[in-house]
Amino acid sequence: MTRTAISPRLAMSTLENTSYLSSVSFGRAKAALEGTRFADLRHVERTGSTNEDLAAFARAGGAECALVADHQNAGRGRLDRRWEAPPGSSLLMSVLVRPPFPAAGPGLLQVALAVAAVDALDALAGLRVGLKWPNDVVEVTAEDAGGRSAPGRKLGGLLAEFVQVPGSDPAVVLGIGLNLAWPDGLPEELAAIATTVEELGGRPVDRGDLVAYLLTELDRTGELATSTAACADLLERYRDRCVTLGAQVRVELPAGHVVGTAAGVAADGALVVIDDGGAAHTVTAGDVVHLRPAE
Ligand code: BTN
Repeated sequence: MTRTAISPRLAMSTLENTSYLSSVSFGRAKAALEGTRFADLRHVERTGSTNEDLAAFARAGGAECALVADHQNAGRGRLDRRWEAPPGSSLLMSVLVRPPFPAAGPGLLQVALAVAAVDALDALAGLRVGLKWPNDVVEVTAEDAGGRSAPGRKLGGLLAEFVQVPGSDPAVVLGIGLNLAWPDGLPEELAAIATTVEELGGRPVDRGDLVAYLLTELDRTGELATSTAACADLLERYRDRCVTLGAQVRVELPAGHVVGTAAGVAADGALVVIDDGGAAHTVTAGDVVHLRPAE
């Protein structure tokens, strides 16, 4: 597929106003990404939602690229929720990915980004965090003397949106929000359920370095299109970091719910839950509530 650089000629309100990242640290990120699929890295101070911007760009035929914002005033979360963060407090980034998609399905792109987020926080902030299915980045707490782990407060999340325009290549827009350091701390209503890298005692993270880490990892997903071994290896890395596996869960589904043990993650990233009657349920989208920690 021909790669089209983001062009100001495209009628894209936000992307028309973006600039190539110019601060020192983002300059480092651009240098690190030179020659990769995500060399076209853009930064905007303020927008509604970077996911919305790249979905519009994808519908207009735009090529693979990444967009980072300092602030969003209509940030989107999973299941039609809002994603809010004060200016400059977080990594807010979306990535437009074109085919070829992973052989096991485009869902593995989110898996790859989620694994990369956990590894990036370990490498750059010195922080061990985990994943709550599907892609919540969470602190990991040891719940009892046996050291069984459970998800604690959330410090980040992913939102993937599939964009399909008849007659043209599909696209996936992958969005990620990671709470780094909130200037005034978290508001009271979020304090019990959310946290930040700073609050967890992580080293200060440079957003440019974080962007470079994540996009370098995502650049490698090309091999997932042709290698089932690479898909299997990625899923193994996801399972290692996923605190939901083995736990008793209640999954809220679009219609109804299922209660049981989170027994596995399928090849396409779906969660397999075994209910008390021994029946297996494959869940592709839903909200997981942990009832007891993993054993
Ligand atoms: C979740 O609900 O856990 C997913 C949150 C995803 C938020 C990110 S921030 C950057 C990108 N733009 C958006 O509007 N949403 C995603």
